[in-house]
Amino acid sequence: MQHPLSPADPVGASFREAVGEAITTFLDERAAELSGIGPELDLPLELAHLFTGGGKRLRPAFGYWGRVAAGGMPTDHEALVRAVASLDLLHVSALMHDDVMDSSDTRRGVPAAHLQFAAGHAERQGRGQAEAFGRAGAILLGDLLLVWSEQMLSRSGLQNDELRRGRPLIEAMRTEVTCGQFLDVTAQSAPLTGSLDEALATANRVVEYKTNRYTVQRPLQFGAAVGGADQELLDQLARFASPIGRAFQFRDDLLGIFGDQELTGKPAGDDLREGKRTVLVAHALARSEASAAAELDAMLGDDSLTSEQVNRGREIITASGAKEAVEATIDAAYQQAMEALDAARVTEEGRTALTALAQACVKRNF
Ligand code: IPE
Ligand code: IPE
Ligand code: MG
Ligand code: MG
Repeated sequence: MQHPLSPADPVGASFREAVGEAITTFLDERAAELSGIGPELDLPLELAHLFTGGGKRLRPAFGYWGRVAAGGMPTDHEALVRAVASLDLLHVSALMHDDVMDSSDTRRGVPAAHLQFAAGHAERQGRGQAEAFGRAGAILLGDLLLVWSEQMLSRSGLQNDELRRGRPLIEAMRTEVTCGQFLDVTAQSAPLTGSLDEALATANRVVEYKTNRYTVQRPLQFGAAVGGADQELLDQLARFASPIGRAFQFRDDLLGIFGDQELTGKPAGDDLREGKRTVLVAHALARSEASAAAELDAMLGDDSLTSEQVNRGREIITASGAKEAVEATIDAAYQQAMEALDAARVTEEGRTALTALAQACVKRNF
């Protein structure tokens, strides 16, 4: 039988559908448990389906093609799909908690989970504050998805020795993304002082942990370890992953200010309202005249910014040359990653897939 997935299209419709079906099947199995607990769980289950039903599926893709890069195409395709699909449950868990922490109203073009829980509270005319109920719901559903991510992985059907090899990478990933998010909120609450170099060093460290480790590096190494990679190959893959994972976030930072929100599903300008310390903002502050820098500085973290003020922020960033600086950083990171991939001992199918995935990460517009 011809293999159902092609390395030339590593995160195309067939791949995304396979991941989506694996998650739906898993959630359908959980539905019986939840309905046994009570009808209150209908909304959490519905939102679990909604928020795990979309997205770019990059983490599962790096996991799947990491397996192929180390050990060729899998013999048990379905078990591997289930195992890597479990990474998206962790991802959606992190997003749900992230939207509460960032007070983000919109995720993938629909109201964020905490707002949908709040709407449920308002609809049944619940007592107390709908917002507080909404946050509680999103925290708990995020927890449930995290727990389910582990359950889906351990029951994926991967062989015991495959799971034993992959597990340390998953353990590292969970700790790193959580700590990375803590680095992010800490950086966001620190005073805006210091040199451009210091600001970039902090931004790079935050992004290494909050994005690269859970989006690219650990999923890739997990798949590779399942496929039998030795430490040398895991290290080679890390040298490819880290610049791609960081460049993915730098692209996200550009899209967070200049992107088309119809495509990204996230309102452009929220990064300013949240006061996110991105490389883009670091460059803009360092490259602007004092008065423009002070104006931009005052916008960071002001959640009442109007769209006119966000437009003014965009103008300041554009005039500073920060966009070009970030594009150059993305290009350099991409080159560095491709050199690392050239030097890595991977299968030909793996090389094809990882080359395409690297492009999808840095050259995207959504
Ligand atoms: C969003 O990740 C969070 C970041 C690390 C930037 P994605 O952009 O991969 O989110 P979805 O799953 O495609 O929505
Ligand atoms: C999200 O980071 C990263 C995780 C969920 C771990 P951001 O807060 O920068 O991303 P968006 O813009 O909300 O997707
Ligand atoms: Mg966020
Ligand atoms: Mg965040």
